[in-house]
This record gives sequence, C-alpha cells and structure tokens, in this order.
Amino acid sequence: MLIRRPSDISPSEITPRRCYEGRREFIKLAAAGSVLGAAGLFARGAAAQEKTLGLQKLASVAKSALSTGEPPTAYKHVTSYNNYYEFGTEKDDPARYASRLKLRPWTVAVEGEVMKPRSFGIEELLKFPLEERVYRLRCVEAWSMVIPWIGFEFNRLARLVEPTSKAKFVEFVTALQPETMPGVRLPVLDWPYVEGLRIDEAMHPLTILCVGLYGEVLPNQNGAPVRLVVPWKYGFKSAKSIVRIRFVERQPKIAWEKANPSEYGFYSNVNPNVDHPRWSQSRERRIPDFFARRPTVIFNGYGERVAGLYAGMDLKKLY
Ligand code: MTE
Repeated sequence: MLIRRPSDISPSEITPRRCYEGRREFIKLAAAGSVLGAAGLFARGAAAQEKTLGLQKLASVAKSALSTGEPPTAYKHVTSYNNYYEFGTEKDDPARYASRLKLRPWTVAVEGEVMKPRSFGIEELLKFPLEERVYRLRCVEAWSMVIPWIGFEFNRLARLVEPTSKAKFVEFVTALQPETMPGVRLPVLDWPYVEGLRIDEAMHPLTILCVGLYGEVLPNQNGAPVRLVVPWKYGFKSAKSIVRIRFVERQPKIAWEKANPSEYGFYSNVNPNVDHPRWSQSRERRIPDFFARRPTVIFNGYGERVAGLYAGMDLKKLY
C-alpha cells in the first residue's frame, strides 16, 4: 500500500470522495440563497476575528487537574477551522453557515438499557458542575489543536439514568435539522451523524459532555449546545449537537464506518503506528501552522490513563 505524508496530500484526497464531489452541489445551494443571508454571513465572519464571539458566559467553572499544560489554540482558529459536515465539507463552512442551527428548545433523550430513561433540557445540562478541561484534539486528517473545553464527565449523567448490565455500548445521535443544515441535502454521510463508544470508554473520567469553550457556551460550529469530547480518539468520535444518547447491547454502526468501513473503525484511537489507508498518522500539524509537523503520540498522549482499556486487543485490527 502506498503511504504518503500529509504534506503530499491535497485536501480533496483527505476528504472522502463523496464529500468533495458534493461540494459543487453545496455551493449551488448556498448561492441560491437557501442557506444563509449575506448579512448573517458577514456578521459571523467579522466576529470570528475577535477574541471570542461574545456568547453567553459560563459561570462557576472549576479548573481541572486533567488539563494539558500546552498553550491553547487561538479562539479564532478553534471556531473557524471546523468539521461539521451537516453545514458543508470545507473547513470554513461551519463558521459561515452554522449560525442557522436552531438551539432552543433543546433536549437530550437518554434511553435504552437504563433503569431510569429520561430527557434532559439543555438548561439542566448547563447546571451540572462545570469544569474547564484543556485537551488536545487530534483529527484523523493529521492536524491538531489544543482547546479549553467546558463540560462535565459523561459518567455523571450516566449514573442518573442507571445503566443496566446489558448496557455494553453507548450511541450518540446528533441533530438532523434539514431546514437549517444545507449539508444534509447531500448524501455525504448516512444522516443523522451517529457516534458510539464502548461503555467503559464512555464512563472513563476523561470523556466529557461539553457545553462550552473559552469561558462561553459552545459556538454553533463547534457543536452547540452539547457535544462529546473523547481526547484519546480521533476528533470525529466527538459527536456535535447531541439529541439522543442510547445505552445499547450491541456495537453501534457509526456514521464514518458506514460511509467507508475500510478507512474508519469503531475504536479510532489516536495511534501513530496504524496509518490511515491513504496517509500516515505518524505526524501531525498543529493549527494554524501549516508546515511544521510534530510526532503524533499514542492515545494522543493520554495513554497512561487509557491504555488499560485496550489490554490484550490487537489495535492494528481493531483500529
Ligand atoms: N459531529 C457532527 N454532528 N458532524 C460532523 O461532521 N465532525 C467530527 C466531529 N463531530 C462532525 C461531528 C470531526 S471529523 C471532527 S475532527 C470534530 O467534530 C471537529 O470538532 P471541532 O470543529 O470543534 O474542532
């Protein structure tokens, strides 16, 4: 198999073929005015230059001992270089178009193999004891950022619904709003975007439900109002704009695995020793630096805390 370094790879090769083929169609939809008014587009673009977007501040946020000491990536990059395919496949599409996302009312249904299924309104989730966790995010496309997320451990929410002994996996289903999401008119993925974790991964103290970043509620392009963050896995495991959480017995079929099972596995742990079929995963570039590359670290540097979850597993097969 031919493995090329990311420097040799054009974005159109990294982006799955269906995505870039759909790009021309997407631009037509946007130009037809069905996506976003020009005024909104301008306002969003201008605001992204400021330190923050001035969104609702989050109060009483504790600092976490689980934060990395690395300097965070500037807010403008965190909020303008995104993957949120429901709003388009280019990195700047989410910052342009996600302002349309309808955020209220917003509930997250928690169901399946649990003793006490129930829904949580977003206001309730914002009242969980919040922590700032500065985590590295390593994207499968071989770039990374450092982001001061705000959220709470997923296991706190899970304990309230009391998973049964049959709960072996957790499925995260994200919002599908065809009226606000131009990207879902194209068959890029099998919408809605679904992600999944094994139950012990979900309950791990590093796994958080995230409601904010840089002291404010989440910008839409980063997955408002609530998303998952699993720092030792590739970024695509971090499902954005979650509406349903299901505790299940069988391993869920996740969106990227359905789209291309030979390229994207269920586990998707950051692993410099397992290349993507089309490029190496041994190095990464830290946004916004487009040239310097640093070595990728197994489990994105969180190995001391998570390697035990995979004891005895062949991570080349179960990638
Ligand atoms: N969640 C949804 N619903 N749709 C998406 O397209 N993209 C994933 C993940 N969550 C995605 C998603 C990918 S590929 C990455 S790298 C991260 O979100 C990017 O998160 P960020 O834009 O906040 O950096």
